Amino acid sequence: MEPINVREYEAAARAKMDPIAWDYYAGGSDDQVTLRANSSAFERIRLRPRVLVDVSRCDTATTVLGTPVRCPVLIAPTGYHMLAHPEGECATARGAGEAGTLMAVSTMSTRRLEEIAAAASGPLWFQLYVYADRAVSAALVRRAEAAGYRALVLTVDAVRLGNREADERNHFTLPPGLRMANFEDVGLERMRESETGSGLVAHSSAVFDTALSWEALDWLRSLSRLPVIVKGIMTGEDAALAADHGVAGIIVSNHGGRQLDSVAPTIEVLPEVVTAVADRCEVYLDGGVRRGTDVLKALALGARAVLIGRPALWGLAADGAAGVARVLELLRTELERDMALAGRPTIASIDAALVTPPGR
Ligand code: GLV
Repeated sequence: MEPINVREYEAAARAKMDPIAWDYYAGGSDDQVTLRANSSAFERIRLRPRVLVDVSRCDTATTVLGTPVRCPVLIAPTGYHMLAHPEGECATARGAGEAGTLMAVSTMSTRRLEEIAAAASGPLWFQLYVYADRAVSAALVRRAEAAGYRALVLTVDAVRLGNREADERNHFTLPPGLRMANFEDVGLERMRESETGSGLVAHSSAVFDTALSWEALDWLRSLSRLPVIVKGIMTGEDAALAADHGVAGIIVSNHGGRQLDSVAPTIEVLPEVVTAVADRCEVYLDGGVRRGTDVLKALALGARAVLIGRPALWGLAADGAAGVARVLELLRTELERDMALAGRPTIASIDAALVTPPGR
């Protein structure tokens, strides 16, 4: 039976995937408090619908950094899509394009960024991890710009990896045949193996720049004309600093609950970030979005768009590009119906009065 909602895609993906790869995607850090909270926090926010509004036509279309998208649901950067499907990121990019939206491609893709761009039928952003050898990252930035990526997404919450115990237990590493394709030219495409724990931790602690600071934003902006989006902001203080450093966008993200456990769910942090940036840049959110009402709530609290990580991987694992497109289309259909039921026929009409924040 074809899944009819995002959670059913989760079950379909799990049934198909190798258990170690599944654990890698599914897991959060430590006790997974934040992982669970990302989704459950949406449930505590109540909607305040208006009635007798003409909703005979509801339009989910919007723009992100000037790029039109059919729906304010984008694909978040996630690693190693060939763990989910043999076509990997090329299929994800086709699914996103088919659904009329945008994909952020991870540094840690299993297909080369140029190959993904060639396969894509929609706009792409490029997510960047900064390596201690800055020349390696600078080369990636130049390649992404040349391949037509429209923005750089700098992840700032993962200079060290969180404690994902399933990966430790499984000694997670990339299976034979899979590689970090963007690093073939510099000999860094193979994930290290670890006798004692997660190969990903061993690999990232060997290559990531753990001294990363705000200077990295200026460095990145000096390298490329592409707009810079910073991903992993969880306080108003850091949001204000990011805006001071001239970013074009901020993604409120706790890395899908995979980094510091016990941080707040992103939907609870969104309002303080929106207030701190005061319209100086666009604000997006990822983490726990599973329903059209979640999108509605994030937009009401000031997000320009949301990103989905695991749900896109579930669609990819279940049915390749078609599954990715279908997950996006399910969320768009839900959002469109929810906008009608809430008396908000356009994205611009989704306002703060639509939600009662938790605790009120
Ligand atoms: C990498 O970013 C991961 O979350 O595994």
